[in-house]
Amino acid sequence: MHEIIEKLEKKRAQAKQGGGAARIATQHDKGKLTARERIEVLLDQGSFEEWDIFVEHRCTDFDMQNKTIPGDGVVTGYGAINGRLVFVYSQDFTVFGGSLSEAHAEKICKVMDQAIKVGAPIIGISDSGGARIQEGVASLGGYAEVFQRNVLASGVVPQLSLIMGPCAGGAVYSPAITDFIFMVEDSSYMFVTGPEVVKTVTHEEVTAEDLGGAKTHASRSGVADLAFENDVQALLMTRQFFDFLPANNRDRAPLHPNDDTPTRTEKSLDTLVPDNPNLPYNIKEIIDKVVDEGDFFELQPNYAKNIVICFARMQGNPVGFVANQPMVLAGCLDINASVKAARFVRFCDAFNIPIVTLVDVPGFMPGTAQEHGGIIKHGAKLLYAYAECTAPKVTVITRKAYGGAYDVMASKHLRGDVNLAWPSAEIAVMGPKGAVEIIFREEAKDAAAIEARTEQYREKFANPFVAGRRGYIDDVIFPRDTRKRLCRSLAMLWNKKLENPWRKHGNIPL
Ligand code: HXC
Repeated sequence: MHEIIEKLEKKRAQAKQGGGAARIATQHDKGKLTARERIEVLLDQGSFEEWDIFVEHRCTDFDMQNKTIPGDGVVTGYGAINGRLVFVYSQDFTVFGGSLSEAHAEKICKVMDQAIKVGAPIIGISDSGGARIQEGVASLGGYAEVFQRNVLASGVVPQLSLIMGPCAGGAVYSPAITDFIFMVEDSSYMFVTGPEVVKTVTHEEVTAEDLGGAKTHASRSGVADLAFENDVQALLMTRQFFDFLPANNRDRAPLHPNDDTPTRTEKSLDTLVPDNPNLPYNIKEIIDKVVDEGDFFELQPNYAKNIVICFARMQGNPVGFVANQPMVLAGCLDINASVKAARFVRFCDAFNIPIVTLVDVPGFMPGTAQEHGGIIKHGAKLLYAYAECTAPKVTVITRKAYGGAYDVMASKHLRGDVNLAWPSAEIAVMGPKGAVEIIFREEAKDAAAIEARTEQYREKFANPFVAGRRGYIDDVIFPRDTRKRLCRSLAMLWNKKLENPWRKHGNIPL
């Protein structure tokens, strides 16, 4: 028996060496942790339960039968983050460049299947040269098996992708289907075709970093939700982020009790909105002042900055915030902002996380770039997402809520549960100036008359009471009381139950 145990230990130790000391050193030289080190930082100490450490590939082409490394380039299993179950896989670049073989894919699929069965989130760490070239179509099949599971798990258990090295070709589509993508600056990249192919096909010269690095995807393409400075920061922030997520679509997100009282008032909010409706203010200041302990976790902070999405807690319970940002493009909804917010709303709804929407929106962005880019279809995504959402929805209109954008931003008509307005709210078809220029066109040359008409219009429509009279908003509140009113509303909605009519699935305008 002693001998068998020794043998087992030896085999295990060998597997843990992955591609060997030299390749591990190269990995470290690139500023990257190894697959196992990443799992160690990500999971609670000692919680990792590894599966399939002895799995090897079955390829016999290109002399591969003489090149087997136990584990076959991916470390898989389950463990805990702050005491909660999570399934993980972490690609090992030191073994065949982390490339995906048939066996490698089977390992990933095994943990994904189990995660779906027991209702626990999945975190995938990508660091891979893509399809195992020696295996050909078996590897492609393996990818498709993973994609299929990503789709089946979508909306059932949260899926997170950490990109910590290369992720190229069709391999990008697994992370793309998952709920959130975090990348690491200067060591990770994602693209469908690399710089060489780009050069051949389009004659563009571009570096891997510019084409698909973390900064590019976190600020230009919107593919990544966040970019971190290094592996350790990305992994530690993932641990924090994980605490906002429920284990599955039937579970509640975990409660984090804290000392912030739900009745806390914030006087400074009474003077936050400038008297001049054309002056901006920072919507994040409201989020900061109303959420528990001023603590919120923003996603995509450098992409479509005209809308803010973040998780925070109210009375210890996770809540998703969507907020127009008057500081950028006056808070207009454009294509990118609509899609960014729509995807977030759909995530929250899938996992029944309440959504608080802060509205200050002058409308949809005008212009040929937007129209030709399909703002009609993309704006409709946000409308669809809010209208479809059955999770609790609380809306606060702080200033402008004009036109179609008023309707879209979780209005009463899209089944907003509680719709509140600050006294500074202006709920109207459009701003006073634009409205007067249309309905009093014949007076256009008379500046004084236009001025008087504008003032008249402002007086009549640019306030929350017209909507209030119809019950489109439930109350006009003092800004200072926003936290209290949100906490009460969310508590009232704790047991909300609402179901949409049965259907195979809707047809969101993609
Ligand atoms: C087998 C691979 C591999 C792969 C890398 N390696 N990629 N082995 N299949 N796809 C091996 C290398 O042979 C090398 O082995 C080790 O991994 C490290 O690779 P290096 O090239 O030394 O590392 P580096 O210089 O950091 O370059 C990393 C890289 C490069 C940019 C990823 O390896 C590369 O271009 N690889 C090929 C990428 C590729 O074309 N993949 C297929 C894409 S198509 P040794 O033994 O020397 O350490 C695809 C389709 C998926 O993925 C479709 C899904 C639907």
